[in-house]
Amino acid sequence: MSNLDVDNSVPFAEQFQNIAHWLAIKGWSEAAGGNMSIRLDTPTDISETTFIPLPVSVPYLAGKALMVTGSGTRCRDIATDPTSDIGLYKIGASGEDYCWLAGNQKPTMELPAHCAIHNTLAEHRPEDIAILHTHPANLIALCHLPEFIDGTSISKRILSLQSEARLHLPEGIGFVEHELPGSLVLGLKSAEQVKKHQLVLWQYHGCLATGNSLSHAFDLLEVFDKCAEIFWKLQAAGIDPKGIAEDTIKETLKSFGQLDRYPKQ
Ligand code: 13P
Ligand code: ZN
Repeated sequence: MSNLDVDNSVPFAEQFQNIAHWLAIKGWSEAAGGNMSIRLDTPTDISETTFIPLPVSVPYLAGKALMVTGSGTRCRDIATDPTSDIGLYKIGASGEDYCWLAGNQKPTMELPAHCAIHNTLAEHRPEDIAILHTHPANLIALCHLPEFIDGTSISKRILSLQSEARLHLPEGIGFVEHELPGSLVLGLKSAEQVKKHQLVLWQYHGCLATGNSLSHAFDLLEVFDKCAEIFWKLQAAGIDPKGIAEDTIKETLKSFGQLDRYPKQ
């Protein structure tokens, strides 16, 4: 059942539909790969149902609501009709439990990560209300090169391949080594990374993006994916790119007032 289309969550449902379309077109979300969520800060008056314990305590989400894609749902289906594939949930006043309100009733297996990350965002970067996780091949392929085992090496090498990439991502890319999909530890490590990074690469698995909308999170993924695509094109041509010099990157960030966000080396 669904009453997503009769309350004020409709604009968010449209965001899911629009971004699911682009994820499907990009080929980033094979089968049911990937998931999305949006935090709603204003209380909803939809009747509560039975509360279920959360795998993680989320005090900064107490009383708020989350719209979350359902487990096993496909982007190509969400793009056609989002109402049955997205669920609306309310976090209890204690921040320890949640209840279903409307729409899909089986949230993504990455619910522990979405909850842990939203909790950190609500505390540290409240303007970022959207989380997008997907599986872009250009990004996963980077994890199979032994030199890319942390966010610093990936950020320096890959984001230096296009002149505006660091303007979108001054803080660079966060990184979490391989953890079990759907695990709480994956969520907790990601939540730590989003304090400083809007993109977090999940080793061998995919990427996670945050933004002030799903479209904004998608923008950042596109920037990272474009840089990785440039890297793989050059590698395929037998070229090992050195990238733009760090001084030039700093000069660019400085002229756009973003240098303070670039990590001190
Ligand atoms: P869900 O279909 O449960 O969201 O899982 C997809 C996925 O990508 C898990 O990491
Ligand atoms: Zn995944």
